[in-house]
Amino acid sequence: MDEKKLLVVGELNIDLILNSIHGFPEIGKEILADNMTVTLGSSSAIMAANSATLKVPTSFCGLVGNDSYGDFVLDELRRKNVQTHYIRKSKKHQTGVTIIMNYHQDRANVTFSGAMASLTTAHIPWPDLKKYSHLHISSLFLQKGIKNDVLQIFKKAKKFGVTTSLDLQWDPSEKWDFDFKKCLPFVDIFLPNRNEVLSLTKSTNLQEGIDKIKPFANCLVIKLGEEGSIGIQSGELVKSPAYNNTKFVDAIGAGDSFNSGFLKKYIEGESLTECLKWGNLMGALNTTAAGGTEAFKSYDSIRKQVQEIFNLKI
Ligand SMILES: Nc1ncnc2c1ncn2[C@@H]1O[C@H](COP(=O)(O)OP(=O)(O)O)[C@@H](O)[C@H]1O
Ligand SMILES: [Mg+2]
Repeated sequence: MDEKKLLVVGELNIDLILNSIHGFPEIGKEILADNMTVTLGSSSAIMAANSATLKVPTSFCGLVGNDSYGDFVLDELRRKNVQTHYIRKSKKHQTGVTIIMNYHQDRANVTFSGAMASLTTAHIPWPDLKKYSHLHISSLFLQKGIKNDVLQIFKKAKKFGVTTSLDLQWDPSEKWDFDFKKCLPFVDIFLPNRNEVLSLTKSTNLQEGIDKIKPFANCLVIKLGEEGSIGIQSGELVKSPAYNNTKFVDAIGAGDSFNSGFLKKYIEGESLTECLKWGNLMGALNTTAAGGTEAFKSYDSIRKQVQEIFNLKI
């Protein structure tokens, strides 16, 4: 019951999604939206929620404000069976919010970072780390307090004997100030997508990006959208095609669900090929329903959907 496996250190926010908006916002005017959804946002939280639904015992370390949005985030994570005892409520900060104005297939987002930018290495429950088998960090550029210490965090985590993974996510400042050469030797699985590889390495094609990262990465896993993913480990490259999805709704959170699937199998000690397959499968499943967690209601429903949509038994 008390088995501990995955610790996610990450950002937390709510998503306030406006749908069926009558036109575009203009300064000095007011327009109406016919639909609104308030839901658990943030890549790290989506990844943690889906991992827990995939039966990986998952705890979250993060920071919210001492406000009703913070309560909402905590309630949603608990509902998903994520352990929340390492989530602190800050009296000094508000909970982060992303307002998403949804127009058909495209969106305009505005994020208020709030508490997420103030999480630091001091919030990580270091003495408890030995109870976990894996540490995952995501959304590095949104977590300014973590970003500055990320090398030390991964070094220290390795001393506690846990395996580690990192998903950078997009850098809103587009400066890509992350010393991957120094940090990646302490990261077991590095999980960027194609655009992040190109931007981080200032490359014009993927092979150039791979060549720049490969000497420093233990295992480089690149998410390629509809083309699936590739993994590079010990000089070997494994290609894994995407699952053909005839029920595509949107790709919000696909990369986070990929991480949940991949890391579940990694923690279980499976091969790179098997991890990539599960990453692709959970990424594809994610795209069959709105948002990042809608397709991950329970393990039984995941199993049913995978059988129905992809004709696979898990
Ligand atoms: N249209 C799609 N059909 C099937 N699988 C998809 C589709 N879009 C994404 N995926 C799966 O989800 C994974 C992550 O999606 P991707 O868009 O590459 O990541 P990110 O969300 O980080 O940008 C992909 O590697 C792929 O396996
Ligand atoms: Mg991503």
